[in-house]
Amino acid sequence: MSEPGPPVAEVVGASKRFPGVLALDGVSFTLVPGEVHALVGENGAGKSTLVKLLTGVYTPDSGEVRFAGTPVTFRRPLDAQAAGISTIYQEVNLVPLMSVAGNLYLGREPRNQLRLIDYRRMHADAAALLRRYGIDVDVRQPLRSLGLGAQQMVALARAVSVNARVVIMDEPTSSLEPREVDTLFRVVAGWCTPARSPDSTGCAWCRSCSAGTWPRYAGTGSPASASRTPPPRPSPSCASVT
Ligand SMILES: Nc1ncnc2c1ncn2[C@@H]1O[C@H](COP(=O)(O)OP(=O)(O)OP(=O)(O)O)[C@@H](O)[C@H]1O
Ligand SMILES: [Mg+2]
Repeated sequence: MSEPGPPVAEVVGASKRFPGVLALDGVSFTLVPGEVHALVGENGAGKSTLVKLLTGVYTPDSGEVRFAGTPVTFRRPLDAQAAGISTIYQEVNLVPLMSVAGNLYLGREPRNQLRLIDYRRMHADAAALLRRYGIDVDVRQPLRSLGLGAQQMVALARAVSVNARVVIMDEPTSSLEPREVDTLFRVVAGWCTPARSPDSTGCAWCRSCSAGTWPRYAGTGSPASASRTPPPRPSPSCASVT
């Protein structure tokens, strides 16, 4: 196996306190291109808080976040997005009344020579993109007309299609059907490149777990622990997934 490349995203010794609770206490986390990490912990362990440090929703009280080796202070989620960090939150955060295609291409709509939105192209591209995720729907219908699982897959398709360098999913399977979970795992497996080219996507994945002990944070592994296999389905030591 080739040597791991330099990390694309790092959290170094980060702490975050909310009133009455130390959500993260000196957390370090390293993501190398081509790796998939699963963050596993009981409810309230701090998974979402760690994700939100990486995506600019929160800034750490101490410690730092690095992207491509450089310390960064994302002031808002858009800064993280611009840097190539794409996030799918626990709650679908798209626009329910907007069309499926409009959600997929929001802020980057294809335009014609007159700089007007090219709906025909947008609809064709959106339909083709979603078919790759096993979703065959009329992309002109409002997003809210889809089931929650399909909406989550739209969020996934959007997140991946923006050429993300890092994709973060916060409990993505909680609203998915088993078939959709399989599709999701297949997509994630496709990001794990044995060569770990610097351009490949890294992924952090959150999963709640009510079994076993969980310190405030258990660092996810060394590059050697990266695998071509996506995060496992619940194992006996992680039996209760919320
Ligand atoms: N904005 C906030 N204000 C106050 N406390 C917060 C805030 N966000 C998180 N917390 C607290 O910080 C701790 C960690 O919460 P976090 O949401 O990161 O956990 P989690 O591991 O994602 O849990 P879950 O599995 O329920 O999603 C919890 O005690 C939570 O109540
Ligand atoms: Mg959470």
